Amino acid sequence: MAKTKTAFYCQNCGAQYAKWQGQCTSCKEWNTIAEEVIQKPNQKDWKSNTPLTARRMAKPTLIKDIQYEEELRLHTGDPELNRVLGGGLVPGSLTLLGGEPGIGKSTLLLQIALHLRYKTLYVSGEESQQQIRMRAERLSSQSSECYILTETKTQNIFKQIEQLQPDILVIDSIQTLHTDYVESSPGSVSQIRESTSELIKFAKETHTPVLIIGHITKDGSIAGPKVLEHMVDTVLQFEGDRNHVYRILRAHKNRFGPTNELGIYEMLGIGLRPVTNPSEILIPKSNQDLSGAAIASTMEGIRPLMIEVQALVSSAVYGTPQRSTTGFNVKRLNMLLAVLEKRAGFKLGAKDVFLNITGGISVEDTALDLAVMAAILSSNEDIPIAQDICFSAEVGLAGEIRPVTKIEQRISEAEKLGFTTVVISKQSKISKKDYHIHIQRVSRIEEVVSFLFD
Ligand code: TYD
Ligand code: MG
Repeated sequence: MAKTKTAFYCQNCGAQYAKWQGQCTSCKEWNTIAEEVIQKPNQKDWKSNTPLTARRMAKPTLIKDIQYEEELRLHTGDPELNRVLGGGLVPGSLTLLGGEPGIGKSTLLLQIALHLRYKTLYVSGEESQQQIRMRAERLSSQSSECYILTETKTQNIFKQIEQLQPDILVIDSIQTLHTDYVESSPGSVSQIRESTSELIKFAKETHTPVLIIGHITKDGSIAGPKVLEHMVDTVLQFEGDRNHVYRILRAHKNRFGPTNELGIYEMLGIGLRPVTNPSEILIPKSNQDLSGAAIASTMEGIRPLMIEVQALVSSAVYGTPQRSTTGFNVKRLNMLLAVLEKRAGFKLGAKDVFLNITGGISVEDTALDLAVMAAILSSNEDIPIAQDICFSAEVGLAGEIRPVTKIEQRISEAEKLGFTTVVISKQSKISKKDYHIHIQRVSRIEEVVSFLFD
């Protein structure tokens, strides 16, 4: 019997070693290297008896001589997903959808598969056909072109694909797949890598778009090797607070489009509803003025987004004051508090500060700074900010109010939603003059304070 071939792989980053060692030299993690059995294929691979274009020897070509066609895209029927992808699915592309368990990955892809006008094969290694059928009932399916296969062995999946010839393939999830060519258990680095490369080969040779679901580990990275993210064309992340109804879809990597687009969905009893006008749901509709709330005009990708920020400032009960946030970076909050203390004389060092971005949505736009600061000041002074004011500016370490990009779009969005005043940086350049909204320009924190409370 031939000797079994093994190799050592880091379970975190996927680096390969000839022998075991305690620390991975590539990602510096300890105790992540494990032995895995590999058996390199001397078996025939899944399509080796059909002539393949890829087998032909490639020759170098002058870039201007390369023929190309206008990029064709398959519309998924979901406006949010289409925008995040950059206009739809590219034929032959691999898209990885990552997210925490229970966030709605299977629901999203099944829903899309059911509404597609293309023949779709949904391969599930996680749920039975009955379970998927029950879920489809909730999603009020319309399509009859969606096939369900419960299988985890890639060779069997490809056999079915050859018979069915689907236009789109969905894999739920990559961690459940296993291939005959590698002997380690499903979910291990070498299994994931091998299964993914088989899927890549299939996608590129048949021009079929493949959507893959991947689980996420506690620290937020896609479970298994980082190499998975390098191998696929697009990495989408499905996130949100499971206790909230809103879910966000964003692209972390996209070979065919932008990475700053954001898709927003609402999780209902009948599946995920794309939210096409997010500003209206994220700002409150109460008539009461409450202290500690401020509204920011932010941008995610090309789309403006109005978001409510809530702050609560109270005397610290325990020795060390608490700083806690949802949807906002704690370090940035600490920085803003330090600026308030040092540049505007507010004694917040002994206070607890809680910050909440409503809807459980997290944004990374620095234009949120001024609204965060206003919300903190409003809570600290217990004076409400009028609900028709919104903010859009960054705050610098010297207490200066800095301009942000695309200010005109932000102002227009605020105007469209009925705000009467928008507070921006004095240095922001605006070419258009005839806004119906009052534009309050400020350059320092002191001016913000006197504008709000005097
Ligand atoms: P699921 O897609 O199974 O999550 P994942 O594949 O990411 O693990 O989503 C499961 C959750 O979504 C579950 O808690 C129930 C909820 N859900 C709804 O609220 N409405 C629905 O129509 C469906 C199908 C699920
Ligand atoms: Mg699932």
